[in-house]
Amino acid sequence: MKTVKKLMLVTGLFSVIFLSACVSNNESSGSGKETLTFGTEATFAPFESMEGDKVVGFDADLLDAVMKEAGLDYEFKNTGWDPMLVGVKDESLAGGAAGITITDERKETYDFSAPYFEAMQTIATTEGTDIQSAEDIKGMKIGVQNGTTGDSAAQQLVGENSTDISKYESSAATMMALQNGDVEVVITDNGVAQHYVKNNPDANLTLIDDKDSFEQEYYGILLPKGSEHKEAIDEAMQTIMENGTYEEIYSEWFEGTPDIEALES
Ligand code: ARG
Repeated sequence: MKTVKKLMLVTGLFSVIFLSACVSNNESSGSGKETLTFGTEATFAPFESMEGDKVVGFDADLLDAVMKEAGLDYEFKNTGWDPMLVGVKDESLAGGAAGITITDERKETYDFSAPYFEAMQTIATTEGTDIQSAEDIKGMKIGVQNGTTGDSAAQQLVGENSTDISKYESSAATMMALQNGDVEVVITDNGVAQHYVKNNPDANLTLIDDKDSFEQEYYGILLPKGSEHKEAIDEAMQTIMENGTYEEIYSEWFEGTPDIEALES
C-alpha cells in the first residue's frame, strides 16, 4: 500500500509539472507571438536552394539555429532577390537571408546582423580559357545577377553602363546564360561558383580568382533599418558561434573548418 501511494504522489507531481509546462508554452507561442517572415532567392546553393517547397541550405540552417536561439518564430520563403530587398525595406518582411553581402551602400537603407560568412567574387567561365585575371574579361560578355555585388564588381571593371554586362534576376539564370553561351563569363560569389562547378562537371566550367580586383565580402542577415530583432539575432549569432552549433552547420555544407575569429574581428 505504501509504495502505491508514493507512486501516485510521484505521478501526480509529474503531471502537474508537465501540465504547467504545457500552459506556459502555450502562453509564449500561442497568443501574442508573431511569425517573422524572411525572404530569399533560392537558386544559390549551397546557401539556399529549393527541396520541394522547402528552402534548404547553409543559410536555412543558420537562420533556423539563430531564430531558435533567439526564441523567435519565423518562416523562410523563396521570394526572389528584388522582392526580398523591397520587402525588407518596406518591412513587409522581417528580414532576408540569401548570402547577402554587408556593404556600406546597403547599410544606408538596411541593418545587418553580425557577419556570418566570408566570401569573394570570382569569375566563372568555360574550361580552357585564357583569362588569368579580372582585367582579361574587359570586352567580354559578362553575366551577373542584377543588384548583387557581382553586378557592382562588373560595373567597376567595365563601367556602369557597359552594354557588355547582362543582368539576370536569379543566380541560376546567370549560370544558364554561361552554359548557353549567352555570356562568356559570370561574376559571382566564390562559394556558390565552386559548388556549381563541382556539381555540374558536364558544364566544363572553371573559376578564376583575383584577389587584387575583388574585395573581401561578409554575409549578414538583412534586416529593416532599426529592426527591433537585431539585438536578439546578434546575441543568438554569437551564442551559436561559441557553442559549436555554427561549426556543426558549416561542416554539413562545406569542407574544412570555418574561421570564426575572422568573422568576429
Ligand atoms: N553576395 C552577393 C550579394 O549580396 C550575392 C548574393 C546573391 N544571393 C542569392 N541568393 N542569389 O550581392
